[in-house]
Amino acid sequence: MIVGVPTETAEDEPRVALVPPVAAELVDDGHEVCIAAGAGEGSDWADDDYRDAGCEVLTDRDAVFERADVLLQVRGLGAADESPEVYREGQVVVGLLGPYDLDSELDTLADRDVSAFALEYIPRISRAQSMDALSSMASVGGYKATLLAAEELPEMFPMEMTAAGTVQPADVFVVGAGVAGLKAIATAERLGAAVRAYDIRPEVKEEVESLGADFVELDLETDDASDEEGRAREQDEEFIRKQREMMTRVVADSDVLITTAAIPGKPSPELVTTEMIDGMDPGSVIVDLAAEGGGNCEPTRADETVHHEGVTIFGPTNLPATVTHTASQLYANNVTNFLDNITEDGELDIDTEDEIVDATLLTHDGTVRNPREDDGSDGDDEPDDEAGGDETTEGTDGE
Ligand code: NAI
Repeated sequence: MIVGVPTETAEDEPRVALVPPVAAELVDDGHEVCIAAGAGEGSDWADDDYRDAGCEVLTDRDAVFERADVLLQVRGLGAADESPEVYREGQVVVGLLGPYDLDSELDTLADRDVSAFALEYIPRISRAQSMDALSSMASVGGYKATLLAAEELPEMFPMEMTAAGTVQPADVFVVGAGVAGLKAIATAERLGAAVRAYDIRPEVKEEVESLGADFVELDLETDDASDEEGRAREQDEEFIRKQREMMTRVVADSDVLITTAAIPGKPSPELVTTEMIDGMDPGSVIVDLAAEGGGNCEPTRADETVHHEGVTIFGPTNLPATVTHTASQLYANNVTNFLDNITEDGELDIDTEDEIVDATLLTHDGTVRNPREDDGSDGDDEPDDEAGGDETTEGTDGE
């Protein structure tokens, strides 16, 4: 099997789908691996590192598409504004493919008999954990969100008891204690902040506390907070209104707010209004990790930094790409574990009865499979409302 890694084309995407140590394992397993020249540069891997790992370095991206049976990409198709016409008849592609945005592209892929696997649809089951690229990336994103806040905050995170006096620790509030939230909590704890967290799923209280943070109890009815698979359910506007009301005091008392609340396939719930942010002290910092889905905070703008009444609100959409080395390494492990699941004795073996294959396979055998026809999303990554008030915004390049 010839496994190919093309250069990433999405704007500001320095990650690469295979790093040399992981590529070497594929070579050891008997696969041929080819990569476009320079594809690893954004993650600090040189072409020679790939050669040393036994890969063939091809002149450019087109050469990889021409040669490979299986393409491994970080972001392809809808996630990279990429035409489906780049794929050859019968090819297999595995990557974050932005499936929510795909429509007629899927017909083109099916016409070409391409088997396209969208890693966004990996089910959160234990057997799939080692392939769950979104969770790996969320973990990296949660870590970096805390660092971003710590760097911007004009205060230290830890308590300081010095001859010059005592400084209280920074108060950090994390909303949404899933993968990204828990990593943000753990990182803030390590930096010595006083951390509080809230999630509508009461079962995460124990995990939050085991990291040393306090779980904020809100007097809200949350019987139907999660579905059978333990994933958060969307709540109605009345619930969200009450939640905002009850979080107002905690938000006002926080120096740092990190929001990560998300419902799979739905727009981000808007949990923090501009009015609530008005209660925060000037100099406070918000990192809204849910920015891509519209944001958990009213003033959030995707990939922009908003300044509102002295509070800085970051809305980064691709923080893992700012920790490229680790993000690429974890991604490479995820994608090769996935590859393992669709190969048998070194050959492709796509078993559509397999739960993970079934959930992720967008097109196969000339047909469009649409694993999640109704994802509930409006397909619009942009927030619906215009920024109001006296906010100023700037790009978040390099964040
Ligand atoms: P997750 O599904 O593991 O966690 C989301 C959490 O939000 C769940 O625990 C859920 O119960 C909670 N939640 C849902 N509604 C809530 C509400 N009303 N109040 C409080 N909590 C609520 O998701 P994960 O993987 O942690 O990702 C979180 C978000 O971060 C997603 O929107 C994801 O796209 C985004 N993300 C952003 C990155 C960036 O660079 N901006 C990087 C990685 C992830």
